[in-house]
Amino acid sequence: MRAVDIIMKKRSGEELSREEIEFLIGGYVAGTIPDYQVSAWAMAVYFQGMTPAETGVLTEVMLKSGNVIDLSGISGPFVDKHSTGGVGDKTSLILAPLVASLGIKDPMMSGRALGHTGGTLDKLESIPGYRTNLTVEEFREIIQKDGFAMTGQTKEIAPADRLLYALRDVTATVESIPLITASILSKKVAEGAEGLVFDVKYGSGAFMKDPEDGEKLARSLVNTGAAMGKRIIALLTDMNEPLGNMMGNFLEVEESLDCLEGKGPKDLMEVTLELAARMVVLGGKAKTAQEGRAMCEAALASGKPRELFLNNVRSQGGNPDQLLELRGRYRSPFSMEIRAPRSGYISHIDAYQIGLAGVHLGVGRNRTEDVVSPTAGIQFHKRYGDLVQSGDIVMTVWGKSDQSLKDAKPLIEGALQIQDSKPALRTLIRKEIA
Ligand code: URA
Repeated sequence: MRAVDIIMKKRSGEELSREEIEFLIGGYVAGTIPDYQVSAWAMAVYFQGMTPAETGVLTEVMLKSGNVIDLSGISGPFVDKHSTGGVGDKTSLILAPLVASLGIKDPMMSGRALGHTGGTLDKLESIPGYRTNLTVEEFREIIQKDGFAMTGQTKEIAPADRLLYALRDVTATVESIPLITASILSKKVAEGAEGLVFDVKYGSGAFMKDPEDGEKLARSLVNTGAAMGKRIIALLTDMNEPLGNMMGNFLEVEESLDCLEGKGPKDLMEVTLELAARMVVLGGKAKTAQEGRAMCEAALASGKPRELFLNNVRSQGGNPDQLLELRGRYRSPFSMEIRAPRSGYISHIDAYQIGLAGVHLGVGRNRTEDVVSPTAGIQFHKRYGDLVQSGDIVMTVWGKSDQSLKDAKPLIEGALQIQDSKPALRTLIRKEIA
């Protein structure tokens, strides 16, 4: 078999066999097939797509390039959530203790901020002492003890994806539904969860700008996952505006605590509860999402999820008392306010531009080796649909330096739109795909 023949076959739109996909990916991981041939193949996939059968095989081959976390000996059910990424998206921090309080174990492996999107690991690491580099043994122990653990992917998880994703990133081949499906699912299935809820975001701050593309990705994830024996539900959710009132690392930890105390902003609570409800259904604790949501609301009111979150902070190296002490105070000394340039209703705060501003401020990063700031970010005092008077403070911004504030300012000001009439209500959850 030759890589060039496989590239040619895909270039002409034919379906590749299991053996051909195994040969190409296996050879890439082993170092016998060079980057340039795999890049050419990825570009052919970008233009020609893959059949569901090919996508399934690619996912399986990538999964088998590494290990699957062994959760045997721990009682389930095991259910996790994965978001395709956004701005201000901190639902993971709330969901894991929330569903754990209902007897569902969440083996959560997350990623870091990259480009305009935030990362769960960076948020958690803003808690002084919190470790996200757990060994597999620690991961298992903490899941058993707290009902969930939150860590980064170990090197043994889908190494083929690590190589391929880095290559796609520099060859303009990320935005391919079969390649995204295989990338996400190979890692998620390796975590060992039986059920997965996907939060597939669409809009300016998402990967998929267009809801129709978001829906195609959601269907591909659900169908490929089902073919691998996983129970999957996807929600298609709006990411045109940042989620919640806070965007930043420690700021988002604080807002997650607010949610765990029943004081979270409406949009964030809505998305979180709808995702949690599906996790409860997949975990077999409720028959319908409605029933699951009612259980989640009651759990939040009991205070148990908050207690589990604080227990987990201790288990992963942080100090819950110190965390509570830092609340409302752990901020960069470099700050500025953004005021309304005119009176009217806020009709848009563009998530993408806010996310890009976050990179300047130090919330996110452009390159994987960049260091992020725990205390940078933006607090939104006014949001979509709110009435403001000219000169009102709309946002407080914290940056890693004075220069970072100067660099971020035009993006933040450009993100804010104000109009005379009240804008239409937003639909946060567009569709459920199961
Ligand atoms: N996230 C992933 O993990 N992989 C992709 O291909 C895209 C987003």
